[in-house]
Amino acid sequence: MFRLGPILVTILAATYPITAVPTADDPCAKIAGKAFVPPADALACEKSFPFNETLRQNVLNNIARVFDFFTFEEFYLNSPPPFQESTADIRARLAEINSTTFETDYDFNIAVYDFTTQLNDGHTRYFPDCYTSFQNVLPAPFINIELDGEQGVFVAFDSVDFISLLGPEYTDFFDSINFDWKRLAGAQVLEIEGQAPYDYADFIAKTVSGNYLDHGVRVNSVFTSYRISGTNFSQRLGDLAGPTGVKQTSLNVKLITANSTEEETVDIPYLANFIGVNFTDAETFWSRNCAANDSTNGVDFSASGSSFRAGGNVVERASRRARGVIVDKSNSSAIGLPQQFEPTIPSVDGSTGVIKNFLLPDNETGVMFVGSFEPDDFDQFQTDVVDAIDSFKAAGVTRLLIDLTNNGGGFVCLGQFLFQYLAGAKIGYPGFVSTNRANPLAQKIVAADIARGLNSTLTFYSPDNWAALNDTLFPENFDYIDPPAPFEVNGVQDPTSQRFHDTCELGFSQDVPEEPPFPPENLAIGNCASTCAMFSTLMNERLGTKIAVFGGKPGENVEFKGMAGNQVLEWSDLDSEIKTAHVKDDPLAPPDLLVSSNMRHNWRTAWSWLNESVPIAYLSELPMFRFNYTKDTVVNPQNLWIFATSQMFS
Ligand SMILES: *[C@@H]1O[C@H](CO)[C@@H](O)[C@H](O)[C@H]1NC(C)=O
Ligand SMILES: *[C@@H]1O[C@H](CO)[C@@H](O)[C@H](O)[C@H]1NC(C)=O
Ligand SMILES: *[C@@H]1O[C@H](CO)[C@@H](O)[C@H](O)[C@H]1NC(C)=O
Ligand SMILES: *[C@@H]1O[C@H](CO)[C@@H](O)[C@H](O)[C@H]1NC(C)=O
Ligand SMILES: *[C@@H]1O[C@H](CO)[C@@H](O)[C@H](O)[C@H]1NC(C)=O
Ligand SMILES: *[C@@H]1O[C@H](CO)[C@@H](O)[C@H](O)[C@H]1NC(C)=O
Ligand SMILES: *[C@@H]1O[C@H](CO)[C@@H](O)[C@H](O)[C@H]1NC(C)=O
Ligand SMILES: *[C@@H]1O[C@H](CO)[C@@H](O)[C@H](O)[C@H]1NC(C)=O
Ligand SMILES: *[C@@H]1O[C@H](CO)[C@@H](O)[C@H](O)[C@H]1NC(C)=O
Ligand SMILES: *[C@@H]1O[C@H](CO)[C@@H](O)[C@H](O)[C@H]1NC(C)=O
Ligand SMILES: *[C@@H]1O[C@H](CO)[C@@H](O)[C@H](O)[C@H]1NC(C)=O
Ligand SMILES: *[C@@H]1O[C@H](CO)[C@@H](O)[C@H](O)[C@H]1NC(C)=O
Repeated sequence: MFRLGPILVTILAATYPITAVPTADDPCAKIAGKAFVPPADALACEKSFPFNETLRQNVLNNIARVFDFFTFEEFYLNSPPPFQESTADIRARLAEINSTTFETDYDFNIAVYDFTTQLNDGHTRYFPDCYTSFQNVLPAPFINIELDGEQGVFVAFDSVDFISLLGPEYTDFFDSINFDWKRLAGAQVLEIEGQAPYDYADFIAKTVSGNYLDHGVRVNSVFTSYRISGTNFSQRLGDLAGPTGVKQTSLNVKLITANSTEEETVDIPYLANFIGVNFTDAETFWSRNCAANDSTNGVDFSASGSSFRAGGNVVERASRRARGVIVDKSNSSAIGLPQQFEPTIPSVDGSTGVIKNFLLPDNETGVMFVGSFEPDDFDQFQTDVVDAIDSFKAAGVTRLLIDLTNNGGGFVCLGQFLFQYLAGAKIGYPGFVSTNRANPLAQKIVAADIARGLNSTLTFYSPDNWAALNDTLFPENFDYIDPPAPFEVNGVQDPTSQRFHDTCELGFSQDVPEEPPFPPENLAIGNCASTCAMFSTLMNERLGTKIAVFGGKPGENVEFKGMAGNQVLEWSDLDSEIKTAHVKDDPLAPPDLLVSSNMRHNWRTAWSWLNESVPIAYLSELPMFRFNYTKDTVVNPQNLWIFATSQMFS
């Protein structure tokens, strides 16, 4: 167990603005204690905090210095095809936000949130807790399916069962305003906000979705889809029916309902779900959701008695592991997958955690639905893999379909474990060649870690986290970032550390078989539309595994890897590196945040096996198979697996 020592943490948090409105007409008191509120009411509360120049300078200085560590910064100056959409001059945008006039703190924070969201790198985003504390929910989630030979946009056929799972607090509101949302189930969508449905999907993919570099993957994330949330089957609303924030009060849709032939135009109201920390009025809304608290910034882990923090929680050392994961804020609690879509085929061992294993009716195909690489229990993930493969073998399974739908990533080393287990130990090193950015402060951190005798127990920058390309661990005093390795992108010199390997094998608790359990030609991956990208890219680049993607717009490609950075550091992680190295006084060090926000960033690059001068994130790798969703497969995992098996193994 870690020990909480006698340390005194002094927090200089942003105090509640003295200029706020008096309690009598406090717009936050009006919505306090409610799980669901009209978005206009939520917005009135969020906009009640005036713009504050001190807070702007604090946030922008923090972000500007965090971007120094973002490995892809210079790629953005001219993002290579097919990722051109994400091109941005990051420094120019920061300067623009620095000189814009904002009325409220909300307006400033949303400008920063939108700017980083539109970089489309799920590892590199600014999340202001204050203003991401509501998720707008439309009682009409959309799907993109092929019907009668043509792709089109519809309101989900299961929307009554699905939306009802939000409970009466949600649905009663629509009764109270006499809005019959149930009749919209299965409606054919002709226009959204006056635009063709796919044009509007493009607009949402471009402005709201974020998270994935590839536009096609973002188009998929606009629509509703199944997933595993926690350890349960679940259905994601999609970025159109369930966006973060409360910008919109309704959606104008021209449609033909399921049992009609008449076109009509309907204004469908949103209702916002509060997902923040509860409050009673503006003052407590601010102090609990907006002001910095003791998990906002990092700590000096080398100080006696300090404890580790990760993702806002105080955790033990064992949990401090390299992570590559996106944040999907659109994750309202309590939305399950309607029961009729839960698989009914036999479940196989190793299914109690984030992995769900099934035997298909052909008795030949095993399905492993890997919902996440970030389980609560690192070792259980590994034993689940072993149990599942053993059970599949015992059942006579000869081929394996791996479903990665909505897998947002997680521990870098669990992706490597699963890859190595399926590829067999004989493949050798199970990861990518990696680097981080050799900026002057990063070089000082590594030098200080070495000088202070720190190691991987306390920091990610210490040399003994990594190995040379021959898999010999870097000695504790080996400075791998000074001298740096030259690298140029878009005409800018952007030196990196020397190239290194991960050392994941050291954390594998389960033996990996020498030979692959199934021949590579008998493996297939479906629907890898997210940060499990490192895993699927390894399967593609090193085993030539068959990969399929579902959905996407007619006539447009969809990459199988949505977002393939490498290790992400939350702001508090980077700050802990800086504080533990004792370089926080350096003028290049980002200041502590005064507000409860997180500027996370992609801290390491993974270089492709196919071309070692290209990050996997920027290498276009299209799937071998591309399928449309249909009415039968769209939110029905079992039907989708049976369909995919029939197509991919024939
Ligand atoms: C702006 O924020 C700072 C830091 O929290 C605070 O000290 C100051 O009083 C605020 N200014 C106004 C006008 O509220
Ligand atoms: C914002 O502009 C001010 C001058 O108006 C400057 O002092 C400050 O450094 C700028 N901040 C950033 C992050 O560029
Ligand atoms: C998907 O639907 C489009 C029509 O929108 C069609 O052209 C295409 O062939 C379909 N794809 C597959 C794999 O069936
Ligand atoms: C359409 O009609 C069918 C058959 O009468 C009925 O089962 C279904 O609920 C109706 N759909 C809607 C959205 O009203
Ligand atoms: C999963 O579902 C079970 C049964 O419906 C429920 O009791 C449990 O709270 C759910 N767990 C999570 C993490 O949502
Ligand atoms: C959604 O929330 C649950 C519980 O808060 C968490 O376990 C799960 O990982 C989240 N899922 C996603 C996709 O963010
Ligand atoms: C929310 O507030 C109520 C009353 O102030 C309190 O009893 C409850 O524990 C709070 N819930 C959470 C999750 O903080
Ligand atoms: C800090 O505040 C955020 C929301 O602003 C909350 O999610 C988190 O739990 C808080 N952490 C602590 C340690 O209070
Ligand atoms: C698969 O196994 C089950 C149980 O042994 C059996 O009932 C079923 O007929 C088998 N299916 C096929 C396609 O052989
Ligand atoms: C790191 O150093 C500490 C103290 O010198 C030592 O106890 C620990 O075992 C070391 N950890 C590793 C992974 O070498
Ligand atoms: C592995 O590579 C490192 C760095 O290139 C080198 O110093 C070391 O001698 C090599 N070790 C072996 C066993 O080849
Ligand atoms: C590798 O990528 C670089 C940079 O895009 C390119 O110049 C080079 O031609 C590529 N090499 C191969 C073998 O494709």
